[in-house]
Amino acid sequence: MAAQDTDPGVNFYTRKWVRPEDLNANGSLFGGSLLRWIDEEAAIYAILQLGNPHVVTKFISEINFEASARQGDLIEMGLVATEFGRTSLTMRAVVRNMINRRTILTIERIVFVNIGADGSPAPHGFNGITYDRDRMPVSLGG
Ligand SMILES: CC(C)(COP(=O)(O)OP(=O)(O)OC[C@H]1O[C@@H](n2cnc3c(N)ncnc32)[C@H](O)[C@@H]1OP(=O)(O)O)[C@@H](O)C(=O)NCCC(=O)NCCS
Repeated sequence: MAAQDTDPGVNFYTRKWVRPEDLNANGSLFGGSLLRWIDEEAAIYAILQLGNPHVVTKFISEINFEASARQGDLIEMGLVATEFGRTSLTMRAVVRNMINRRTILTIERIVFVNIGADGSPAPHGFNGITYDRDRMPVSLGG
């Protein structure tokens, strides 16, 4: 199959080198590893978009594993915000092979919720994507 490009709105941030501990019993990339990486990637994206380290995963839509990855593959994970709600942020995720650009996974909707000091959903006040670090939280509360 010819190399394909993915959603041009998606920015690819993190790259991974598929290692033996990331594999399933068949020798290809374990889906659970991939989802853990994406959840973390989406959390960081949400923190930087919403300016708040207290965000939680609320909802993940259908996950389409389109192609497998193998040990030694270089893959990259991309996200784009698709909807700023009152307290939520919805993202689309794409994972692809860095070399041949083949899509490995897509998730249409990952929803994170902005959490306030009382632990409940809080308005974040944003309605568009930032490509800078202008919303970086002052403290990560660690
Ligand atoms: C996140 C949490 C505080 C939200 O509580 P809630 O009662 O659903 O809150 P709300 O009904 O006010 O919804 C908050 C936002 O989530 C959205 N939302 C709620 N359920 C949703 C769903 N099933 N799908 C998509 N979005 C959803 C709402 O539309 C709202 O967004 P908006 O303010 O932008 O319109 C609560 O569900 C929770 O603590 N969940 C566990 C989170 C967690 O631990 N995640 C880690 C996974 S192990």
